[in-house]
Amino acid sequence: MEYDIIGEMAGLAAPGKSGVKLARAAGLLLKAFGFDQCCIYVYGKSGFALKGHSGKGARAVSYGPSEGAPGLGRGKRAALELYKLEAGEGSWRGVEDRGLKGFRYALVQPLEAGGEFHGVIYLKSIERKRPGAEDRRRLRKAALQLTLVIKYAEIEKELESAKEELKEARAALKDSERLITLGDMAAALAHEIKNPLISIGGFAARLGKHLGPDVPGAQYLERIFVEVARLEKVMDGAFRFIKDSSLDLKPEDMNAIAEEAIRPFEEDLASGGIELRKDLHQGRLPVLADREQLKIAFDNLIANAIQSMEKGGVLTMTTALSGQYVLATVADTGAGIEPDAIDKIFNPFFTTKRNGTGLGLTITRTIVARHKGSIKVESRAGAGAAFIIMLPHAAAEGQAQRQ
Ligand SMILES: Nc1ncnc2c1ncn2[C@@H]1O[C@H](COP(=O)(O)OP(=O)(O)O)[C@@H](O)[C@H]1O
Ligand SMILES: [Mg+2]
Repeated sequence: MEYDIIGEMAGLAAPGKSGVKLARAAGLLLKAFGFDQCCIYVYGKSGFALKGHSGKGARAVSYGPSEGAPGLGRGKRAALELYKLEAGEGSWRGVEDRGLKGFRYALVQPLEAGGEFHGVIYLKSIERKRPGAEDRRRLRKAALQLTLVIKYAEIEKELESAKEELKEARAALKDSERLITLGDMAAALAHEIKNPLISIGGFAARLGKHLGPDVPGAQYLERIFVEVARLEKVMDGAFRFIKDSSLDLKPEDMNAIAEEAIRPFEEDLASGGIELRKDLHQGRLPVLADREQLKIAFDNLIANAIQSMEKGGVLTMTTALSGQYVLATVADTGAGIEPDAIDKIFNPFFTTKRNGTGLGLTITRTIVARHKGSIKVESRAGAGAAFIIMLPHAAAEGQAQRQ
């Protein structure tokens, strides 16, 4: 019985590594058609890549999109036959191809399906041995099967990367949902605590005045003042952000917001021996933003940067366009963040400062998440930290919505 090359090829269209399948296909084709070498080339952006090889001769030949016999075979619907003319070495009727060395006959069978070109089967023999009509018909069928194998592998790969992307998107979504609820909870809490706190402070002050400084226990009143003041500071941080907790999104320019955010700090920077460097993207960076809220986000980052450079340094404000995102980075040359703290810095009330509130970064992250953006930190302990805000490019988003 005739060797069932079509059945063998069809068997390859099952899940598995495409590299292994194509190497096996080359062996099967060689066996079925009695050539001396079989190469399978897959066509991509940079040309033809050798994905399967069997038989004699060099294997490491690849081709540009229009190079060699595979390049010639591209765009041809039918198989391309090449004979070596007896007269003169290297004469293949004008075809330049390093891979033909040592052979006298070659057949290039395009791998095509649905008008799409995927590569070629490249068969070569040392003798001038032309396959018969029946073999050529079988080769065409085998090629069609092989094309399906390649297409299947491509789809499998796309599916894999789509799965990966979906996983990442899900994780990001979960993260931002968690952050928004955390922010809302902090806001509600702050609201509840603020008024009683003012009362406690007020009553303690009245009591102090009433009793005078010399009564026993006056030092406890002092403690109440200090603690109430500290809590008020915490509340102010949270309050500024929640006062207007619904976003008022308008088309804005990230460059303008960044400039506006840094301006009030310029004096502080100069007196603290901190050099300000601005590296702003040339031209507008359109974002849909609540200007005031986004400025609070920047305020927190800039304040942290200044606090991390007590002995002076450089604060760099950078804006840039990256694909469909607008980036704004606040970088310092301060102490940086300890590796074991880096996972906690966005948590509410996490602080390493004596007078810190630990709310700055929580609020910043919540504001950025509400803008459908994300924030990232890069830090080297001892060498400084950089906080990168990433927001969707407004024009790009508009386009995506129109599609
Ligand atoms: N630019 C920075 N350099 C070094 N550490 C930082 C920087 N920004 C934030 N951190 C760390 O993150 C912690 C939390 O910051 P934040 O939420 O703003 O609260 P706070 O500034 O009140 O401590 C800080 O206490 C500090 O340890
Ligand atoms: Mg802070």
